[in-house]
Amino acid sequence: MNLCVLGAQWGDEGKGKIVDLLTPHFPLVARYQGGHNAGHTVYVGGRKFVLHLIPSGILHAGVICLIGNGVVVDPHALFAEVDELKALGIDITGRLLVSDKAHLILPYHRELDILSEARRGERKIGTTSRGIGPAYEDKIGRRGIRVGDLADTSPDGPFVSAVRENVEARNRLVGNNEMKWADVVADLRTMWVRLQPLVADVSLYVNQAMAAGKRVMFEGAQGTLLDIDHGTYPFVTSSNGTAGGACTGLGVGPRAVHAVLGVTKAYTTRVGEGPLPTELLDATGERLRESGNEFGASTGRPRRCGWYDAVAVRYAARVNGLDALALTKLDVLDGFSEVKICTAYRCGSETLTEMPSDLAKLAACVPIYETMPGWDRPTMGVTKFGDLPEGARNYIKRLEQVSGVPAAIISTGSERDHTIVRDDSVAAAWLK
Ligand code: IMP
Repeated sequence: MNLCVLGAQWGDEGKGKIVDLLTPHFPLVARYQGGHNAGHTVYVGGRKFVLHLIPSGILHAGVICLIGNGVVVDPHALFAEVDELKALGIDITGRLLVSDKAHLILPYHRELDILSEARRGERKIGTTSRGIGPAYEDKIGRRGIRVGDLADTSPDGPFVSAVRENVEARNRLVGNNEMKWADVVADLRTMWVRLQPLVADVSLYVNQAMAAGKRVMFEGAQGTLLDIDHGTYPFVTSSNGTAGGACTGLGVGPRAVHAVLGVTKAYTTRVGEGPLPTELLDATGERLRESGNEFGASTGRPRRCGWYDAVAVRYAARVNGLDALALTKLDVLDGFSEVKICTAYRCGSETLTEMPSDLAKLAACVPIYETMPGWDRPTMGVTKFGDLPEGARNYIKRLEQVSGVPAAIISTGSERDHTIVRDDSVAAAWLK
């Protein structure tokens, strides 16, 4: 049984913890899109690990982690992470494979990301400045450089020509402080020495592993509403974090994805620009940010916070075919006298129960809330659904109804064991 775990909101849903929790049941964990814009925070034994590019499964001895062709790889970021893991006692030797078809993020991509944001001014996306968008632009523009291209060591072969053309294009665009293509080539040659042992045909590897009966977890980054096709375009990232991305980003057929788990917070957050219908710009929003420590794992930016948006999660259920939800950060709502769920949007005289595609329309939407009593007793660390305060149980039951998906896993704190896996849920079967 292979499982795809992805974000059902605007990213930062706590996928890292859920992937980490499920990993003992999956000998292979595979990332299929995004790059080091992601920040997956995992706490184990009181230690904090922040992973950006390497699947969170790496924290479990013996698990093989794959970086698929759909991911964009900054070799410097990759090895910074490898070194950080090593310093924490985690060895990746023989456990991390990178697709030869993954595209590289090069120094000019980072520069072009920052320049493009500056050019957009007030209309900026609020990117992570990691070069993600420009790297995917080069991929789709058919001028990108792939990991496997580094194997071409000839001084004037196709690899050197491609770098040269790209750096010259960058120099024409930027105009000042010329970048030297030979420096970029030299740097990549150095990186290749470390990268080469990790490079593989990941599609072949994963398909052979599945044929041999190994279970795979497909790990999505960012979230459904940040997906390049299904998100709040143009305020999105440049890849498909939705379930379909698992197939294109790893080279597996759709039948390889047996189940899809959507990770969602018990409220809503977003980092970066773009509409967020339930955003709270008041003391309640501030309280969610403080209690939930809602600051970006990659950039440290404060996240925008608001109540749970069931319209958005219903939409995520539809475009991903969600089987279940993993509901995270329930404990952040402890102590609120009342909690709210957005069940529809009001847009002028219209009531919308489905996410509009038109961004201007979404930006004009006002949430329609249902208000429920909160709970006083802490949920922090609770491991059985029945042990939750009644208010929390009722809140979850209502979330499930309005989202149209059962909450199979509930996270009640940052540690691995601060988790409820509901006995009667599909997740219980996945963990057998
Ligand atoms: P980019 O992916 O750096 O191009 O950023 C595009 C948008 O996606 C911005 O709004 C970012 O804040 C957002 N974004 C990218 N990665 C993440 C993530 O891992 N979590 C949450 N938001 C993200």
